[in-house]
Amino acid sequence: MGGKRQTHTIAINTGGGDCPGLNAVIRAVVKRGELQLGWKIIGIEDSFDGLLGDEIKVRHLTRASIGGALTKGGTLLGSTNSGNPFSYGDRGNLAGLVKQRLDELGCEGLIALGGDGSMKICQQLVEETGLKVIGVPKTIDNDLLGTDETFGFNSAVEFAAQAIDRLHSTAESHDRIMVVEVMGRDAGFIALHAGIAGGADAILLPEIPFDLQAVADKILERKRLGRFFSIVVVAEGARAATEVGTLDGKNLRDRRLGRGVADALQDLTGITARETVLGYLLRGGIPSAYDRVLCTRMGNHAVDLVERGDWNRLVVLRNREMTSIPLAEATRGTKQVDLNGDLVASARGVGIVFGDENR
Ligand code: F6P
Repeated sequence: MGGKRQTHTIAINTGGGDCPGLNAVIRAVVKRGELQLGWKIIGIEDSFDGLLGDEIKVRHLTRASIGGALTKGGTLLGSTNSGNPFSYGDRGNLAGLVKQRLDELGCEGLIALGGDGSMKICQQLVEETGLKVIGVPKTIDNDLLGTDETFGFNSAVEFAAQAIDRLHSTAESHDRIMVVEVMGRDAGFIALHAGIAGGADAILLPEIPFDLQAVADKILERKRLGRFFSIVVVAEGARAATEVGTLDGKNLRDRRLGRGVADALQDLTGITARETVLGYLLRGGIPSAYDRVLCTRMGNHAVDLVERGDWNRLVVLRNREMTSIPLAEATRGTKQVDLNGDLVASARGVGIVFGDENR
């Protein structure tokens, strides 16, 4: 290749909770954008925070910045899920400052790797400041609208399924109920996929209000059939039928749901129950092979969109193809498990209960 033309200057950031694959997307954008197309790529530290302090915290991303990035967990740019520029603590609305600082850095637009919260902020920046954005859908929760999958989800499911496999052998050795609590906020995708993959006996989802008596009935039926242990996967946002409308979805960690479910099932069945909370283990560590491929494709597609000047869109996976939708469309709500879809039906087909069987 001859002398490189500097065609675009683009900012990139990572917002919200981290997840496996963030660095793999950054790598794909830098490898194609910087190394092949001659872009200048400026990494903003800690979501938008890097633009809003007295001192701007940004980094010119080059080949040297992305060494080993394909497999590295976390985010090399840092992240935060509390730095909304529209209500930035005592300093109020700093959205204009985001745009101003990006303009001062010569950035034509932003490639934002984030979940629904980050994408809503980006859409608001588009509408109120004229910032140009390409979103790339990140989150272990898989709850972003418009994409079949977000990156990070598969890695979380793989880890959770392996954890359930390990719990199986100890549950069987001790004739115990093992309750596994997984993250996912208000969506049950991690619980549903990991529960099916791990051969769970019951899965409690935010989308299906549960009655633990139905789960206890299943466990006691197993016992009658000579299966003295059971595995119950609980999504952190699941709600008992009696709790519907009483929880606001916040402070999920404080609920200690897995513990409560284990105690209640022990009381209802007379079988010893233990809980394991997988929590942040699901967000840490290396991306799965599947996610590495997905991240590479999503990063590459983000570069395509910038090259075409097709701004204010979210890169999405639809029917295995990489495409994009307007950011405005993607930020209209969040995605939840389809209760009429084949995944829930398949789970029921292999005898998994969801706690709604007595209704
Ligand atoms: O959205 C990703 C996620 O890990 C959720 O599954 C979880 O509820 C939340 O973030 C935890 O956020 P925090 O890092 O603020 O505890």
